[in-house]
Amino acid sequence: MGDPKKLYIKTYGCQMNVYDSERMAEALGGQGYVPTDTPDDADMILLNTCHIREKAAEKVYSELGRFKGLKAARPDLKIGVAGCVAQAEGEEIMRRQPMVDLVVGPQSYHRLPEMEARAGGGVKALDTDFPAEDKFEILESRPKARRGPTAFLTVQEGCDKFCAFCVVPYTRGAEVSRPAARVLDEARDLVERGVREITLLGQNVNAYHGAGPDGDWSLARLVWALNDIDGLERIRFTTSHPNDMSDDLIAAHGECAKLMPYLHLPVQSGSDRILKRMNRSHTAESYIRLIERIRAARPDILISGDFIVGFPEETDQDFEDTMNLIRAVNYGQAFSFKYSTRPGTPAAERAQVDPDVADDRLRRLQALITQQQRAIQDSMVGRDVRVLFEKPGRMDGQMVGKSEYLHAVHVTDARPQVGESYQVRITHSGPNSLGGDLV
Ligand code: 5AD
Ligand code: SF4
Repeated sequence: MGDPKKLYIKTYGCQMNVYDSERMAEALGGQGYVPTDTPDDADMILLNTCHIREKAAEKVYSELGRFKGLKAARPDLKIGVAGCVAQAEGEEIMRRQPMVDLVVGPQSYHRLPEMEARAGGGVKALDTDFPAEDKFEILESRPKARRGPTAFLTVQEGCDKFCAFCVVPYTRGAEVSRPAARVLDEARDLVERGVREITLLGQNVNAYHGAGPDGDWSLARLVWALNDIDGLERIRFTTSHPNDMSDDLIAAHGECAKLMPYLHLPVQSGSDRILKRMNRSHTAESYIRLIERIRAARPDILISGDFIVGFPEETDQDFEDTMNLIRAVNYGQAFSFKYSTRPGTPAAERAQVDPDVADDRLRRLQALITQQQRAIQDSMVGRDVRVLFEKPGRMDGQMVGKSEYLHAVHVTDARPQVGESYQVRITHSGPNSLGGDLV
């Protein structure tokens, strides 16, 4: 046997891509590849890409441009593009960047080992099918190596909601849920290998309806089953849609001990006129009522959201409605974006907002969110929170972990080990994290 081949994977975009990259690395492990963290000495470079906004998609081409020299120096180097840009642009990628050897979409990457073997030396491999078979069943199971304390686990993929701005229904396909038994097996395996916190992933994770032994399971049923796994301490899930926030899931937030008090629930806009044009099929009012019901079940829950500003035809009044919704909800965290035109989506055809106006709205919205985020973070000072430690901090003797509310927490103490949780009394609140002492 020669030296193992080296695989460099760069991941863009969402947590589902992070999970997919792990699975692709494992699948290519069967072809003799081991991971490397630099492209310079790699035998294969794989970009796992995101198509959600124009900037994300363009990054792929500029990154590929940087590999030209490497490919010229080592013609055996294989270059692949995976993920949502691969799905959306397919062969176009090879036309724009002829050095790309293979292009594989998010629903067909179980075929990657065979494609890798075929591609190279001028032979191209392309697969952007939505195959009938389940890629997770065909992929080699995860190797039994020890893992860090937190892991992602994809349980649902795709989206049937067709928000007017979004490419996901086109790049990831229709909503599909993995069978409950498979998810539970994978979760048990992760826990055996050291994982203490699992984040269930799906583009519409709360629409989960995987086959169970007695009919389809809801996400709440799945969460309750995970709650019974010894050694697993924490359960999270993301991303949820307001329309799929079922009563049993809301109740689980109050009753299920391992389900963490943090919920990412994007609303996108606070204007009913814009929500309608976005095809969101909920109103600002129904979202606020929903948050009230969730807080009634779990009063200390931290709410996170996503917002788009400058959606086509958004007026000053529409934007003020969004600001008012933010004031009404009080977010612990939020991600906000300027609307980005995505070819092929319905909103791409409509009258666009002046980019300067959109910039100004984004600045104002982000200032309000930052203020709320900081106030909630500052209110943790003096409280005791449970922290699951994940890694040493940047300073000597420091350990960093996450609170139940997903705040990063630093302590300077020799006692906590990676993967252990402790009560920490919060003593200060910095721009991006909290600090405290073990109780
Ligand atoms: N422009 C800007 N933001 C978008 N998002 C999705 N599509 C677009 C787009 N075309 C945002 C939404 C979504 C998050 C993942 O990305 O807020 O919730
Ligand atoms: Fe995109 Fe809307 Fe589906 Fe979320 S719910 S993935 S924003 S279409």
